[in-house]
Formats: sequence, C-alpha cells, structure tokens
Amino acid sequence: MAEGTLSVTDSRTGARYELPITASTVRAMDLRQIRTDPDEFGLMSYDPGYTNTAACTSRVAYLDGARGVLRYRGYPIEDLAKNCTYTEVAHLLMRGHLPTSAELHGWDNELAAEMRLPPGLPDLIETFPAGAHPMVMLASTVAALGTYYPDGRHVTDTACRHRQRLRLLAKIPLIAALIYRRTRRYSRSEPRPDLGYAGNFLHMLWQGTSRQLGPQDLKVLAKALDALLVLHAEHEQNCSTSTMRQVASSEADPYVSLAAAVAALSGPLHGGANERVLQMLDEIGSTAGIPAFMRSVKAGERRMMGFGHRVYKNYDPRARVLQDFAEQVFETTGKNPKIALAVELERIALQDDYFVRRKLYPNVDFYSGIIYEAMGFPPEMFTVLFAIGRVAGWLTHWDESMADPERRIARPRQIYRGPGITAFVPIEARGRDYAEERPAAPVSSHGSVPSHRSL
Ligand code: SDX
Repeated sequence: MAEGTLSVTDSRTGARYELPITASTVRAMDLRQIRTDPDEFGLMSYDPGYTNTAACTSRVAYLDGARGVLRYRGYPIEDLAKNCTYTEVAHLLMRGHLPTSAELHGWDNELAAEMRLPPGLPDLIETFPAGAHPMVMLASTVAALGTYYPDGRHVTDTACRHRQRLRLLAKIPLIAALIYRRTRRYSRSEPRPDLGYAGNFLHMLWQGTSRQLGPQDLKVLAKALDALLVLHAEHEQNCSTSTMRQVASSEADPYVSLAAAVAALSGPLHGGANERVLQMLDEIGSTAGIPAFMRSVKAGERRMMGFGHRVYKNYDPRARVLQDFAEQVFETTGKNPKIALAVELERIALQDDYFVRRKLYPNVDFYSGIIYEAMGFPPEMFTVLFAIGRVAGWLTHWDESMADPERRIARPRQIYRGPGITAFVPIEARGRDYAEERPAAPVSSHGSVPSHRSL
C-alpha cells in the first residue's frame, strides 16, 4: 500500500511521473518508465556499494543507525546478550521466537545429535598448510562439507532447508576447533556435545593441550563465549549476509553459499577488522603513540580499525555491551592491558573533529578482539569466532530469502564505460603497436565516454 508518491519531472522531456512510495522507498523498476524515447531502456539508479539500496524485505534484524539501535526479531540486543545462550538466540532467529525451556532443551538435543563430522573432513583439514589463515580453511571446509550432503541441493524444499540449517549450525564450531588445532599442529579432538554448544567448542579447541580448561573455567568462559556469539549472530544486510543471499539466489546449495559468506566476512573492512584492531594497538604500543597514529589516520594514510560503520552513525550498541562485558571476562582471565589503550584511543577519537564530522564511532570489532585475546584466542582466530556467531544470521537470511515470493536471481546492472563497437583486426594484421593504435573509446562532445547499457 503506497503511503504517497514522488513527483518527478524529467527536464529532458518535460514529462511528469508519479512514483509510488512504500516503506519510505521507491521501486527502482519504477524509474524505467522515465525515458526520452519509447525505444530507450529507461532510467536506472546508480549506487556503488549499495549505500542506499534495499535489496530485499526482511523480518529478522532491525537497525537504527542514527540512534545506535539493534534488535533481533524485536528484542534489543542488550537484553539478548545479557540473558540468553547462543542457541536460544539461534532459535529466535531461525525458528522465529524465543524458545520455552522445553523447546530449548529439544533444540539443544537436536544440535547435539548433529555434533559430529563426516570422517573425511578432519582428514581434509589436516591437508591444509598449518600456517594458512583459519578463515581460508573455514571457507574451504564448509564448501567441502556439502559434498557429504547432496540432499542440500533441494533448496526449495522447506524441510530440507531446515535439515541443512541444523547441520551447519551444529558442525561449524567443530570444524573451527579442528582448524585451530591444525594451525597449532595438535592432533584432532573429539566432540563432547554434553558440554553444550560453546562448552564443546572450547573443549575441542584445547583438549589434551596445556591450555585445556578445568570444568569451572570452561563453564565461565563458555558463558562469556555465548554472549560474544549472541552479539555477532545477526546484522541484517551486511556484506557477508548479502553475499549469502546473492549466491543462494541462484539456488546454489547452502554449503557453498555459506562458504561465500565466510569469504566475504574475512575481509579487513568487514569481519577481519577485529584481528586488525589488535595489530593496530600493538603498533601504537602505548598512549604516547596515539598522537602520531591519529595524524596518520587524519592524513588518510590508514584507517582506525574497529571504527566507523556503513549504518551506525552513532555508537554501535554491540561495542557498548562489549566494553562493559570485558571487565566481567577479565575477572576470570585477568585484565588485557590493551583495553586501557583502546579506551584512551576511543576517548581521543570521539573528541576529534575528523571522527566527529564523519560520525565515526567504535563498532563491534573495536573491543571484541581484546576480549578474545584475554580468553586465550590468537588474533587469526578472531574472525572465525565472528563467523561461528554469524552462522545463525546467515542461515536465517538464506531460509527467509528462499521463502520470499519476490525472490529472483540477483543480477545488478551497470553503466558501461568501455569502447563503442570496434572493427575486428585479424591477428596477422595486429602490428607491434596494435594495443596503442587500438581506437580509444569514443568520446562524446563534453569529454566523457557516452554511457551505453547492456540492454
Ligand atoms: C563490520 O555492515 C555491517 O553490519 C558490518 C558489521 C556486521 O555486524 O556485519 O557491523 C561488522 O564489518 C563492522 C565494520 C568493521 N570494519 C572496520 O572497523 C574497518 C574500518 N572501518 C571502515 O573501513 C569503514 O568505516 C567501513 C568499511 C566500516 C564503512 O565504510 P563506508 O560506509 O564505505 O564509509 P567510507 O569508506 O565511505 O568512509 C566515509 C568517510 C571517508 O572519509 P572522506 O572520504 O569522507 O574524507 O569516513 C572515513 C573515510 O575515509 N572513514 C574512516 C574510517 N571509516 C571511514 N577514516 C578513518 N578510520 C576509519 N575506520
């Protein structure tokens, strides 16, 4: 139901158009009617990085970037992180409601029953170079997991989708733990589903090593990890979730689609930032190093990792929860001295006009790495931890997109800037200087290359 119309006058023709406005949005396809000639393609919108383009509707997460608000299916993230286990929140995201105790018990049992890996997968992980980045190993192994479940290709079948969701949610932490052990050349460990979702992961990481946790420490750190996984579980159309949707839109199976999402998350501008924050703090060294670092940021020589966000132009609510949460974790792990440097760096940045003018605030990655490091994780595992949490969000959006009646294969358009039609020259006629002699793209009267469109 339109809430109004956008009145548009095309100055090239004087024609007027009324574009319906629904949910404060106009449909891009409504622009196509605006043309100077009936045979023309019509107008498109141009939006590199999709800074102002809605690609879908969704009922999962709500973000208010101006106010720093994040809700999963209506629940404020602060309440969920404080009160829920990760599997409880995964149930909320994937099944649409917070579970009763009986439902959560059943859900945890279903996940426990899937906490095992096909025998060939640990073998595959042990073929990777021990020095490879864990995110590359994770993307490869998740894709390989799909080779054991060919039924995963029945993506339009709801029951089949839900079977794959359960498998992936249950198995990803096991894969992540074995990948970590590969980087340390530890022998493979076996799952202990009785320890719960986060507890089993921590057990599998360090079982049989000098880091093995006693029952009390394992319980405390599992609770802390649960909260961290909740905070990373979902964040609407971020780069990796929209990648999951985009790959899945071709009806690819969820294993290769999720591998693509892992790949997208690994980039330092996205989930890879948490690892870069620690490197940045190590480079700054102490508060004495902050002025020189800030100068380099403001000179455009580098970015303050863990700062800024495409949506949040206020404090990322997760960063606020994490800063408070860090002190709780440090009571068990001992304080990470880098927290003081991070807090001072934040304080100085939030008073600096460069950051204030650009509305750059700490995001989820600014404090998470400091907590992960205090818990004993090496920096190269930080983004894997982010991925474990985000699996619930990726799978929720996959399922939602496959059930969406408006679903179509994702296929954006482009503005063509290449040469016009070019006469073919047989290879024997292409002299040494052929590349230089090639006709340059035709330039229109006002100097720019006329834009053509694939029609
Ligand atoms: C995540 O999308 C999500 O929801 C992601 C996420 C999730 O949960 O899935 O929240 C997780 O990815 C958090 C973001 C983690 N990345 C980082 O911390 C890397 C550092 N931050 C950035 O590179 C940047 O802020 C982005 C990538 C997060 C956002 O980039 P945008 O929206 O494309 O912003 P931009 O690059 O256009 O920057 C606008 C201006 C520029 O300055 P001017 O050209 O206007 O002079 O702000 C500057 C940028 O140079 N800027 C920064 C900065 N981030 C933006 N300057 C210094 N340090 C920074 N971190």
